[in-house]
Amino acid sequence: MTRAPWTNTDLSQRPQHCLTFDEGIVQELQHWQETCPTIVDDEVTLEHVSGMTRLAQLAQKTRAEVYHGSGVVRVSAPPESAMSDNLLRRYYLAFGVHLGQPLGNYGRLYEVKDRGGDYTKKAIPVSQTKAATGLHTDSSAVDVLPDLVGLICIRPAPVGGASRIACALLAHEKLSRNFPELCRILEEPHYRDIVTPGADQSQRLRNRFPVFEVTDTTKGPVCRYMRFWIEKGYEKAEIEPHSQLQSALDQLDSTLEEPDSVATFTLQRGEMLWVHNTTTLHDRTAYEDDPSAPRLLLRQWVCG
Ligand SMILES: [Fe+2]
Repeated sequence: MTRAPWTNTDLSQRPQHCLTFDEGIVQELQHWQETCPTIVDDEVTLEHVSGMTRLAQLAQKTRAEVYHGSGVVRVSAPPESAMSDNLLRRYYLAFGVHLGQPLGNYGRLYEVKDRGGDYTKKAIPVSQTKAATGLHTDSSAVDVLPDLVGLICIRPAPVGGASRIACALLAHEKLSRNFPELCRILEEPHYRDIVTPGADQSQRLRNRFPVFEVTDTTKGPVCRYMRFWIEKGYEKAEIEPHSQLQSALDQLDSTLEEPDSVATFTLQRGEMLWVHNTTTLHDRTAYEDDPSAPRLLLRQWVCG
């Protein structure tokens, strides 16, 4: 895949990445609910929802932009009055199967909510906490790699919980130009701790791959990055990392956070975000919950 790196300004001037919900989809979802009142999330296939032509059109535009455009799509929320939580789930499930093959490592729709844990003390995904995550891509297991990461907001937090996204291709371009030695270190394989459910824990020493994998210079790099799991990976493997690895990771983090690199927004109820996982990093700011209505997002991993 070749795609142009983007800055926040570039992205904001690219209308294809902000799609408007098509109200005709509400009727399609209601029809599905009437004809099929009970569904099992993991068993929903394209066959079940192939008659939803309006939804299919919106998914097609999303596919084009996430795979061949910026790698980022936000879809505006349906009218509040038309969508129960149940209908939002169906909308999101149907959207996922129109985009590709959803992965089931966490269940088809994974609830991103604070479960009271601390990912720095226990090997749990950051998505189960209310901490800021830092810019990262999803999945720390070598054999599990979603092409797309989707989020739909069911309930936003009253304070915080904003989404932040940045272009991995831009960061790689800057690093390879300005810090070629450090960039080369990031292009070598590095150990990662394994926190992805369903991943084979006995494969710890096999669980290594580059932050930027460049197999074909005519194509962009494949980015897989979450700093904490790299540091934990070396620690648990009891292997000393490259002496310059910390400097390389520091430089990557500061490059990702340079002015005009990060797009920030807060998803409102019913809004969806889809990002191409290996060319776009995502992050969430820390948040505070309303205990009577805690923040809830649903995540999907999809392979194209
Ligand atoms: Fe994530």
